[in-house]
Amino acid sequence: MKIAVIGANGQLGSDICIALKNTDDVVELIIDDIDISDKKSVEKAFNNSDVDMIINTAAFHNVEKCEDEPETAFKVNGIGSLNLAEISNKLDIPVLHISTDYVFDGEKMAPYIETDLPIPLNVYGNTKLSGEYFVSTIAKKYYVLRVSGIYGVNPCMAKGYNFVDLMIKLSKERDEVRVVDDEFLTPTYTGEIANQIAKIVHSDLKYGLYHLTAEGSCSWYEFAKEIFGLTKSNVKLNKAEPGEFAIKINRPKYSVLENKGLKDQNLNIMSHWKEGLAEYIKKKH
Ligand SMILES: NC(=O)c1ccc[n+]([C@@H]2O[C@H](COP(=O)([O-])OP(=O)(O)OC[C@H]3O[C@@H](n4cnc5c(N)ncnc54)[C@H](OP(=O)(O)O)[C@@H]3O)[C@@H](O)[C@H]2O)c1
Repeated sequence: MKIAVIGANGQLGSDICIALKNTDDVVELIIDDIDISDKKSVEKAFNNSDVDMIINTAAFHNVEKCEDEPETAFKVNGIGSLNLAEISNKLDIPVLHISTDYVFDGEKMAPYIETDLPIPLNVYGNTKLSGEYFVSTIAKKYYVLRVSGIYGVNPCMAKGYNFVDLMIKLSKERDEVRVVDDEFLTPTYTGEIANQIAKIVHSDLKYGLYHLTAEGSCSWYEFAKEIFGLTKSNVKLNKAEPGEFAIKINRPKYSVLENKGLKDQNLNIMSHWKEGLAEYIKKKH
């Protein structure tokens, strides 16, 4: 297949390109090739295109910046998704769009499945949810894949770092690291997400919305503990007191996703988050 990957130099996009290159002809698109928020730019990038699928990893996803710049966030995460849904219809090809666990409010305190009601708490989550709706109501052939707590070898373009690298950096600079123990997630290595996407692309998975994270869950504190264990760090890790870090933006306290849809169709190949973390640390650190 010939597959266009948008955000090809990003944290997730770069791993998707690597995972697909063995089997597919990958067209890597970066911001200089396409601005998804600009309809004309999208039409130009796919003018006379013979790609068989579009994968979109691009987003405006710095949560703080989204709060400060809601128009830009909606333009990229909402209108950008609309533009891709429309071009996929024009080319009569599927669009595979990446979304987020931040569409949920975290009140459930049990793993979210695809049919749970999304109630975003912030601008980022709302604009990503609008992107999901544009893709799922307008594109005739689509996958929306919600990922969570991602980290990859290529630094996150929007933040410049990921949590694993940050913890390792802090463990070398400080005697003590303090991390919250009352927020829960499923950390997921982008290399594993990319392999799962490669499997989806070559499967007969029904079009629709799917959760795609590693198995299991943990608090940020437990995540840090595992990182320091794997890197054999002697840094003192302590739980942050409630309210120790100022809360600037509402975020879900619990955003664990269950890959129910993939499991129902026998296509889930995601391993436990600790396995993905070990693989990542072996590769990068
Ligand atoms: N990071 C997380 O923890 C996390 C968690 C859940 C879901 N997600 C979702 O996962 C996806 C991938 O995240 P990531 O961490 O891989 O992001 P990333 O490293 O920041 O990469 C995003 C890519 O999109 C490009 N981009 C930004 N705006 C664009 C636009 N208007 N048109 C075209 N390209 C644009 C960026 O280019 P430049 O930087 O060069 O401008 C970058 O290459 C996003 O949809 C995000 O919402 C992320």
